[in-house]
Amino acid sequence: MVIAIDGPAGSGKSTTAKFVAEKLGFIHINTGAMYRGIALKCIQEDVNIENVSQLNNLLTHTEFEFSRESGSALFMDGVDISTEITSVQVTDFVSQVSAISEVREKLVQYQRDMAEGIDVVLEGRDIGTVVFPNAEHKYYLVADINERANRRKKEMEAKGEVVTLEEIAFEMKERDRKDSTRKHSPLKKAEDAVEIDTTGLSIEEQVNRIVEIVNKTIK
Ligand code: DC
Repeated sequence: MVIAIDGPAGSGKSTTAKFVAEKLGFIHINTGAMYRGIALKCIQEDVNIENVSQLNNLLTHTEFEFSRESGSALFMDGVDISTEITSVQVTDFVSQVSAISEVREKLVQYQRDMAEGIDVVLEGRDIGTVVFPNAEHKYYLVADINERANRRKKEMEAKGEVVTLEEIAFEMKERDRKDSTRKHSPLKKAEDAVEIDTTGLSIEEQVNRIVEIVNKTIK
């Protein structure tokens, strides 16, 4: 079974998807982490994203694996990149990288292959619209911009990074604008997705809303 969770930055997708997967015994695939991984590798290997052959070479030689042991950790080419991909440098660059059709084709295929024949919760921007348009369950999370920025600020403070609320809100709005206006697979709600506004909801409430609906269809 595929559960698709989409939505803008900071809407609560990752935390919700992680716990929904845990409660149901499903695998959690964070597709945003994969786009971030490609952005990180382009930076590390100084790849010019406008050079199609360089980019294709990088894409062909990149492998991902989500750890089943250590939560939702992502390994790229055998290395745990979970922390590095949350850097400001990667966050600022990832919308540009994820707008490229070659990158999307490669990662969409990768995501379909990874989810083949298993029970999985996939989260991202285009899961319910493009990656799995026939997913049994589709959710679209939204939240007020102030709440989204506040959540991100707390995450960053926990890592020792100091950024103002205004800077975070600006970066998020900018990323949402780029993600929802790009030509290939823009961020948008699938017509048949259930919209959940997570403003003011606790993580437990967000998770339970989804788990209750899914459990009704399993029983
Ligand atoms: O979920 P996130 O904020 O970590 O995602 C990082 C970026 O990756 C996001 O700004 C857009 C891109 N992305 C995408 O284009 N398609 C997805 N399915 C997931 C993420």
